[in-house]
Amino acid sequence: MARLITLASHSPSGHNAQSPRWRVIDSAGQIKKLAGTVIDWMRWMVDNQPGIAAELHMARAIRRWEAGSDVILRGAPAVVVAHAEKMDRTAPAACTIALATVELAAVSMGLGTCWAGYFWAASLSFAPMRKALALPDGHQCFGALMLGYPRFAYQRLPLRRPPVISWWDER
Ligand SMILES: Cc1cc2nc3c(=O)[nH]c(=O)nc-3n(C[C@H](O)[C@H](O)[C@H](O)COP(=O)(O)O)c2cc1C
Repeated sequence: MARLITLASHSPSGHNAQSPRWRVIDSAGQIKKLAGTVIDWMRWMVDNQPGIAAELHMARAIRRWEAGSDVILRGAPAVVVAHAEKMDRTAPAACTIALATVELAAVSMGLGTCWAGYFWAASLSFAPMRKALALPDGHQCFGALMLGYPRFAYQRLPLRRPPVISWWDER
């Protein structure tokens, strides 16, 4: 993981600010606790923001968690968090590029990743999640990846719609 993150630290950052900082969580107990805190955030969302909760299928995620399935961090052995100063204008892009670099480079090391979007969303606003993550003062999580050894090998690329491109030419 240190090699992966060192590699990702070569990814571009605006003004060469090199703002991404990294938090690696690789304790099974801590990962389970954080996933449970994300579920607590979802319970809060179902009660207080039912529209968004429905759009993001939170009630279903809570039911599956209660049935014993970790639909938040998927039993991953590690979570890699990119964080930076909250007000740093370069941080959203720099952290996303750095995490995407980790995602691509992980494959070459026989590792698999999955973006932890629910985890990230909970970390933005839910006080118990912010407390549990304990990032430095003034810092915000700008994205996170689950990381582990993949159970499945892809036989082909997932299908995609053709890209929508408009060509700007002189004709
Ligand atoms: C920003 C972002 C957030 C995501 N958050 C989650 C997540 O919280 N949990 C999860 O299992 N997958 C998450 N994913 C993975 C998507 O569910 C996955 O990319 C999607 O199913 C489409 O499949 P694809 O990877 O072939 O595009 C996320 C992906 C992105 C790009």
